[in-house]
Amino acid sequence: MDQQIIVSGIQPSGELHIGNYLGAIKNWLTLQSERKYHCFFFIADLHSLTGEFDPQTKYQQIISLTRDLLALGLDPDQCTLFVQSAVPEHTELSWIFSTLTPMSELERMTQYKDKAEHQVTNVNVGLFTYPVLQAADILMYKADRVPVGEDQVQHVELTRVIGRKFNNKFGQTFPETLPLLTATPRVMSLTEPVKKMSKSHGPKSYLALNDPPELILEKIRKATADEIGVTNLLELHKLFDANGAATQKFLGEQARGTLMNVKLKDGLAALIANHFARFRADRVKISESAVVKILKSGAKVAGGIATETMTEVRKKVGIRD
Ligand code: TYM
Repeated sequence: MDQQIIVSGIQPSGELHIGNYLGAIKNWLTLQSERKYHCFFFIADLHSLTGEFDPQTKYQQIISLTRDLLALGLDPDQCTLFVQSAVPEHTELSWIFSTLTPMSELERMTQYKDKAEHQVTNVNVGLFTYPVLQAADILMYKADRVPVGEDQVQHVELTRVIGRKFNNKFGQTFPETLPLLTATPRVMSLTEPVKKMSKSHGPKSYLALNDPPELILEKIRKATADEIGVTNLLELHKLFDANGAATQKFLGEQARGTLMNVKLKDGLAALIANHFARFRADRVKISESAVVKILKSGAKVAGGIATETMTEVRKKVGIRD
């Protein structure tokens, strides 16, 4: 049987939070361990330049995020892990795709509209064409599945639109890529539980995987505990509760009207702190030189496939003989 291709990326734009973990990375870890897939996971550094950033810290963000992924269990022997910009063919394919993408499709993208509202003084062209680069990331490796959170589904749909346009114009080349969601494709903010958890709403609204136990407790204690907030906390509790018994107890208390929010919050904080204890201990043991070495060999593998795809694409488009 042919190996299925899995592709996904993540931006190096700050700390990894439990939304990233529960919405996407959990699936990355499962997929890499199944032999029927070739997984390509990458640090989307070029995408992260469309937001506000500090050039002095960008490189360290790339290293730190890779270290996080390794500490969580991504295994360079079981997946190809690399930095997007180390495979420059992504931007070349993105350009070719941009000539096939109607402006109107990009204007519909909700992430673009959200981000444009958030960074009013920096609505750059890259923010607008962001999904075209994402389509190039995905189709470069002819991905069958893309494990992402719900907020990225629209971009994967657009990837199919772009792939189809290419196939119709230049001949069958790219597959129909589908998103792959976890059981929790949309993890909600702690402070505004009707919104998805996101770094852009400030550090109190999310739990970073590297937060020490005291900070996890502090953030959860301050989490909004209205009806929706409590439902979200219970949902999180269920996800981190290995045998489910404590969650059942809280659900029973909620039904009887005797649930004490502080007990739920303290219980949840302990579960989460405990869940990432090994991660926190492992991540400090991973050296920068080990990270650099892994990324370099990942880029070599990814670059080999990218060379093949671009040779085919340039020829089909007619810019090579
Ligand atoms: P990014 O860096 O914003 O997020 C990384 C992954 O985390 C998921 N995620 C969430 N899932 C559930 N609940 C949440 N609150 C939550 N917040 C974030 C995201 O859906 C994503 O899967 N555009 C992508 C990066 C990218 C990419 C790609 C992904 C670039 N090229 C190609 C897949 C394929 C992004 O901004 O992810």
